[in-house]
Amino acid sequence: MSKPLSIAIVGAGLAGISAARHLQEAGHQVQLFDKSRGSGGRLSSKRTEFGDLDIGAQYFTAREPGFRRELKRWLEAGWVADWEPQLYLYEKGQLRPSEDDQQRFIGMPRMTGLSRQLLEGLSLTSSCRIQRLRRDEPHWWLEDDQGSEHGPFDRVVVAAPAPQAAALLEPAAQLAQAAARINMLPCWAVALVFEQPLDTPVQACFVRDGALDWISRNSSKAGRKGPDSWVIHASTDWSAAHVDDSPLQVIAAVQQALAQILGCDLPEPVFSHAHRWLYARPAEDCQWGALAAPELGLYACGDWCLGGRVENAWLSGRQVARTLMGAG
Ligand code: FAD
Ligand code: NAI
Repeated sequence: MSKPLSIAIVGAGLAGISAARHLQEAGHQVQLFDKSRGSGGRLSSKRTEFGDLDIGAQYFTAREPGFRRELKRWLEAGWVADWEPQLYLYEKGQLRPSEDDQQRFIGMPRMTGLSRQLLEGLSLTSSCRIQRLRRDEPHWWLEDDQGSEHGPFDRVVVAAPAPQAAALLEPAAQLAQAAARINMLPCWAVALVFEQPLDTPVQACFVRDGALDWISRNSSKAGRKGPDSWVIHASTDWSAAHVDDSPLQVIAAVQQALAQILGCDLPEPVFSHAHRWLYARPAEDCQWGALAAPELGLYACGDWCLGGRVENAWLSGRQVARTLMGAG
């Protein structure tokens, strides 16, 4: 390996973590920054007195051979597990079983269990929102929203969702413009917990009609403790049309839609929560893999460079690491 580099990564979602692991394994010094208190980004689990509820990514699939090899290691380590829910499809007003052969995986014992394990041995500064990147040849400095500067770094990787990345990538106009072209769409996520289990065999459901997109019985996933819990995602169109509604309004509308799909009256939940994801998924999949301005030592990755899936976030992180090291 050539001389070890000191590398800052902005964003500790799966893309940033993947980049960090690949770079650190190659001998570089890596420092992650994330604006959140925790990590994992859209791998997100809400901790409640009724157990942990996965309110971001619900599960993931694995298609690319390198990612499948990595997944095998995660399965062996117990960081992830299979999820084989009783799967349904709701379409044209009809609810029907929709079992398939697709293997689906979940973090253990919550989706963020995976990101937490992957962060072992990496250095993360959390609750730190990076506001600006400043180049002071030949180094980079990162300015946070409290006015503190972090650095110097030889390279910077921006691993935030496209709209947030665009602002940070300003020193490389072509990268900033590419990120600014990506439209990311919102999603309202609602979690509901019921004291008594709902009288339905449904454990997961793809929804094609109306306000919803996806229904999941959180408590049907391995390792999840507590009473009957559900996570429901509103469709992109509905979320966009109701983006400024209050959480209470959203919970009421989602409960009504859920009752209609499941064909039963819902009891009063003992817990309800609505989370608005403003940048849930890129409007289109593109095939960039990652973005690079090697002359400046500035790079970008994230699901928006490949398509809005967990696997793509990990692959984009791997790609940015390879590009930065001059190997791909
Ligand atoms: P993120 O996870 O968004 O990580 C970016 C990180 O950057 C965040 O932690 C953020 O806090 C941080 N950040 C941003 N700006 C700054 C800043 N200025 N300074 C410091 N830190 C910053 N995918 C699937 O495969 N299966 C699913 O079932 C699925 N369901 C989903 C459901 C929902 C509701 C959502 C929102 C997403 C879902 N996805 C799903 C998509 C999947 O979650 C994402 O593709 C993936 O997690 C994206 O990872 P990432 O690292 O690219 O971005
Ligand atoms: P996947 O292969 O399980 O699903 C891909 C898509 O195929 C589904 O969205 C669904 O429309 C369809 N589908 C798959 N199996 C089906 C079945 N048995 N019956 C009916 N339809 C079926 O998973 P993949 O490709 O890994 O996709 C990730 C998932 O993440 C998708 O469901 C996607 O919608 C979801 N996602 C949600 C986001 C949100 O904001 N709510 C953001 C990004 C991804």
